[in-house]
Amino acid sequence: MNNLLKKIKIKDMELEGNIFLAPTAGYSDKPFREICSDFGSFLNFTEMVSTEALIRDNLKTVTLLQKASNEKNYAIQLFTGNPDSAAKAVEKILDFKPSLIDINCGCPVPKILKSGAGSELMKTPKKIRDIVKSVTNSTDIPVSVKLRSGFTSESINFLECANYAIEGGASMISLHPRTRSQGYSGTADWENIKTLKNDVSVPVIGSGDLYSPYDAERMLRETGCDGVMFARGSFGNPFIFKETIELLKYGKIKYIPDADQKFKTAYRHLKLSVEFYGENIALKEIKKHLCAYTKGLSGAKDIRDKLVRCNTLDHYEEVFKTLLF
Ligand SMILES: Cc1cc2nc3c(=O)[nH]c(=O)nc-3n(C[C@H](O)[C@H](O)[C@H](O)COP(=O)(O)O)c2cc1C
Repeated sequence: MNNLLKKIKIKDMELEGNIFLAPTAGYSDKPFREICSDFGSFLNFTEMVSTEALIRDNLKTVTLLQKASNEKNYAIQLFTGNPDSAAKAVEKILDFKPSLIDINCGCPVPKILKSGAGSELMKTPKKIRDIVKSVTNSTDIPVSVKLRSGFTSESINFLECANYAIEGGASMISLHPRTRSQGYSGTADWENIKTLKNDVSVPVIGSGDLYSPYDAERMLRETGCDGVMFARGSFGNPFIFKETIELLKYGKIKYIPDADQKFKTAYRHLKLSVEFYGENIALKEIKKHLCAYTKGLSGAKDIRDKLVRCNTLDHYEEVFKTLLF
């Protein structure tokens, strides 16, 4: 369909396709990335990790960085307000062999902003350049940045930030065109993605309000961006990758997951999480994911009521026995 599904070259790295899993704190961990790769995501982003925590060898942070066995390509996203800290953190992540290192310039959370990271960086575009430069000086792995459109609606400066990032050596820019003040509310202004694409020569990846394959197709077509990344649209719905690839390839979606397929995938997600984190942590992390898989299914509320009451793996196994054919 209009060649919207295409290979994408980021510095020396060529990806087979342009449909990605966005970085999402609390969601894009190794188990979920493994599942999204199963359904065809061409590049997965880890959730953001602190460069300071990496330098301290914080075990929890290091865990977040592990590559899934089926992940051909994955990007590690760092957050930092400090170029030196960025360079030191790079040394710590090289063993993981990421395909790409991404710098978070969009996180709106006050605690992150206080450390000078996330969307706080958009107030000082030259610092974005300095951080990117510090990373590109430390490794040949391609580096990208993920921006918002600006800090507030009065300070829309994604173009300036993108150009400084490119000056520092960034090989790709992702844009979530909401301001920091908007948080995750309101709508993403896709017009900004089009403006960015027309202004820079590196690949541009669009993010924001991608809840269906049709949204992805429309963003690619309307903005001319090189690729898209699913965030909230993928929660409980890793099938969106397969569906989007079909839509872009054939113009229609043949694959429609039924309830059985959804429960099987949710169950696999549970098992992968327990394997990865151990039962104690996994059972806390997994509830939001499992509930998300039930969205739109008949009897979803009853199923969610049962799932939220589970507090051992045995409980979950019992509930899934009643759901799986
Ligand atoms: C729960 C949650 C966690 C997120 N964590 C990150 C993150 O760690 N790094 C980042 O750059 N963006 C993060 N984002 C932003 C997403 O990557 C994405 O840009 C944003 O949600 C817009 O896409 P959507 O409207 O399709 O969800 C997060 C978003 C959500 C909802």
